[in-house]
Amino acid sequence: MFKIAHITDLHLGRPGEQYLELDLRGRFSAVLERVVEKDKPDLLVLGGDYSLHNPDVEACKWLRDQLAATKIPYFILSGNHDSSGDLIDVFDHSSLGYGKLYFKYSAGGYDHLVLDSCLGEIDREQLNWLEKSLARAERPLLWMHHPPDLMGAPFMDGRHALKQREPLLQILHAYQKPLDVFCGHYHAAMVCTSKNLTIHAAPPTSFYICPGSTVFKQEEYPPGYQLVLLGKERTVVVPRYVR
Ligand SMILES: [Fe+2]
Repeated sequence: MFKIAHITDLHLGRPGEQYLELDLRGRFSAVLERVVEKDKPDLLVLGGDYSLHNPDVEACKWLRDQLAATKIPYFILSGNHDSSGDLIDVFDHSSLGYGKLYFKYSAGGYDHLVLDSCLGEIDREQLNWLEKSLARAERPLLWMHHPPDLMGAPFMDGRHALKQREPLLQILHAYQKPLDVFCGHYHAAMVCTSKNLTIHAAPPTSFYICPGSTVFKQEEYPPGYQLVLLGKERTVVVPRYVR
């Protein structure tokens, strides 16, 4: 079984900064410590939104140093509070060469296809790449910050959903075989199906947003992440909370 810890929506802020009465860096550190000490995953995936509001290079460098200290392989996604250019510089992804964080990462017998939704949509260049990559992929899994479809959470669906979803969904639905998609952005643990897609939104390390509310409403939960267990016969996804 290949074990992945999916950690997302860190919103780190400045050192010591509190937001909504939460110690943001402390909550992320509690998750990372638990993952490293107890779960011992084969891979870490960082799901985007490293900065509190606007892209913050210092927060990204701090994150890079925390991840390096774990000695666990990882890859990172770009969220809507990030700058893909900054992430490419800080995490030394200049080999990608196209100024966006979309790529294939093969591990655990799967092809992890990663999209960059930093600008709130998936552009044509990435759609073309995705279509070709899906056709060639060995047991693909899809990773992106935004869910590719609506999730049934009125506030986030209405105000912050991925834009231009149809061209992306056309490609994903045309794949026909079951496809797991791993996301963050909704600041809640949620699972939603869309034809052949099972969309797993991970809980955040930072603040939670009530999925049933039509307005922004914070919910109190401990910092979270999700474990993705890839087996020969099945994939198991488990939300975890660090109390
Ligand atoms: Fe976020």
